[in-house]
Amino acid sequence: MGIFYITTPIYYVNAEPHAGHAYTTIAADVLARYHRLKGDEVFFLTGVDEHGENIQKVANQNEISPQAYCDQIAPTFTTLWERLNISYDIFLRTTSELHKNGVKKFLNTLYETGDIYKGKYEGYYCRPCERFFTEKEQGEDKICPIHKLRLEWVEEDNYFFALSKYQNPLIKHIHENPGFIQPEARCNEILSVLESGLEDVSISRASVSWGIPLPFDTEHISYVWIEALSNYVTALGYTGNDDRFQTFWPANVHLMAKDIVRFHAIIWPAMLMAVNLPLPKHVVAHGWLTKDGEALSKTRGIFIDMDADIATYGLDAFRYYLLREFSFGNDGDYRPNRLHSRYNADLGNDLGNLLNRTLGLVSKNFDGIPEPTTPENLDDEVIQMATETVSKVDSLMNQLAFDMVLEAIWEFVRRVNRYIHQTQVWTLAKSEESKGRMGTILYNSMEALRVIAVLISPFMPSTASRICRQIGLNDSSEEQNLNTIRSWGGLQAGVEIGKPEPIFPRLEMKERQTPGKASSVQPQEVEETHLISIDDFQNLDLRVATIIEAEKVPRADKLLKLKADLGDEKRQVIAGIAEHYTPDELIGKQVILVANLQPAKIRGIESQGMVLAAAGEKDLVLGTLEKPVAPGTKVR
Ligand code: MSP
Repeated sequence: MGIFYITTPIYYVNAEPHAGHAYTTIAADVLARYHRLKGDEVFFLTGVDEHGENIQKVANQNEISPQAYCDQIAPTFTTLWERLNISYDIFLRTTSELHKNGVKKFLNTLYETGDIYKGKYEGYYCRPCERFFTEKEQGEDKICPIHKLRLEWVEEDNYFFALSKYQNPLIKHIHENPGFIQPEARCNEILSVLESGLEDVSISRASVSWGIPLPFDTEHISYVWIEALSNYVTALGYTGNDDRFQTFWPANVHLMAKDIVRFHAIIWPAMLMAVNLPLPKHVVAHGWLTKDGEALSKTRGIFIDMDADIATYGLDAFRYYLLREFSFGNDGDYRPNRLHSRYNADLGNDLGNLLNRTLGLVSKNFDGIPEPTTPENLDDEVIQMATETVSKVDSLMNQLAFDMVLEAIWEFVRRVNRYIHQTQVWTLAKSEESKGRMGTILYNSMEALRVIAVLISPFMPSTASRICRQIGLNDSSEEQNLNTIRSWGGLQAGVEIGKPEPIFPRLEMKERQTPGKASSVQPQEVEETHLISIDDFQNLDLRVATIIEAEKVPRADKLLKLKADLGDEKRQVIAGIAEHYTPDELIGKQVILVANLQPAKIRGIESQGMVLAAAGEKDLVLGTLEKPVAPGTKVR
């Protein structure tokens, strides 16, 4: 059993939380839940950053005191986290005594190291960022790249932290601890900042009154960022009662988006080095969640309507979509139609169907969970894949590759659906003899569902519990963990199963709900949902494309960038085939392209279609044509 301490940023309370905050917090929740499943002792910190000039300004605009303002907004965060089923252990407010006392102790310790000195600061400042910009960052036009506002010239008497002293120790630490900053692109960014030299940072603000006074000079208020970063230790009770601190520090993962990685990967580690505390093990930055390619902004009306989508698809589908759709380190554009497709395809068709078919057949043909008999090869394949999937998930989870974790689980879900199909299990009720075989297949399918339920539980906790109850694990998923799914046979034959009920009833696009309204949609007949209509098929625009260029995508082992000729146009396509084809052997090949697929960015490169291939467990073979035809010819 290990220790796992995970943190989100503490969010500013100058506005209510939005989907961007939800994205980080859900990802952190998934990790916390996964480590609990592993049996680790977990501490999950989230909270709010309540001090500083911006908060003071919003409170003034609202004509209330900053404290009263914070008291109003902070609960909007906890309410949202409850709605999103976030299993945090502490919600830290920076106006709490716990934090204020911790900050005083931390700053005093820092002061005693001799790394703090008093000086005058003159420089260009961005008020919404609450930070000075170094000469290198200012650029010629002196505009803040985040807020697009002109930087202000500010002169102040400030206290400084001798950050520059830590330039080389930080570079050394990064080199000696691969994976300290993730993903690699962010690590390289930080290294290049460090290599171009560090300036000392001011740690106080003379002109701000809403904050924590420096303990060694109470005329000055601590700079909000310095105070905020120390929340990661103050939340553990850095003062006085230190048990928690001893147990959980250093943090395993500080999670955030790429906007604030410099604070976490440079200033915070340097502060920790100064006071002689161990550094966090991993600083992980994910990409931006955008809407129509643009940064979320309430004032500009660019927002994600979480309420509507959760009301329509349910919380678990929303959580699933966020972590399945985007590669975690990259930006991701939120698209309700993609959520819709994933809901119907991955959740309804693949998972929901597996559960429905299995339980439908069990309840129709057996009294409770059937007894398995001697396994055949096909059964062993499924059982072996379950074990492999558990290991694969563990290794991908350690890499925080959530999308790939879910893909690995779904490969297994699809494999079990295929197992049901291959064995034609529904035809085996005919005779007593074949019914034994039927029982084995259904038992294995139920066991597979048990494994799947546990593996998805960090992402979709309520769905996991519902599956567990339906497969006869009376209580919930709670008594299951990563250990219980490492061995096959956890379900007891003869035990009564729960009431089979659809977990993801099919939804049509027009039936998206407004918040508060329950879905009136009924699930489809179990055996029919794998079929599509001719109209569905005709929606696909399949065309012959000749590959005229191919090259590897840098730092992506699986991806090739292809240029495909479609007769009257050329398309750029990113294809996950690099492990099976070299660029050279592709030139001149004719393939089949899904030409009306919505363009998507893969590793930041636009992909305008998809090539078809036969994808086996190990092999991948492109679908080509029997003889050459004109590029652009329709495939029907
Ligand atoms: N208060 C500071 C953090 C101090 S931590 C010691 C702060 N607050 S913030 O409210 O601006 O939160 C920034 C964080 O919110 C991002 O790093 C990210 O975790 C999350 N996100 C806010 N908008 C986001 C997106 N559009 N997309 C993804 N994450 C987003 O900075």
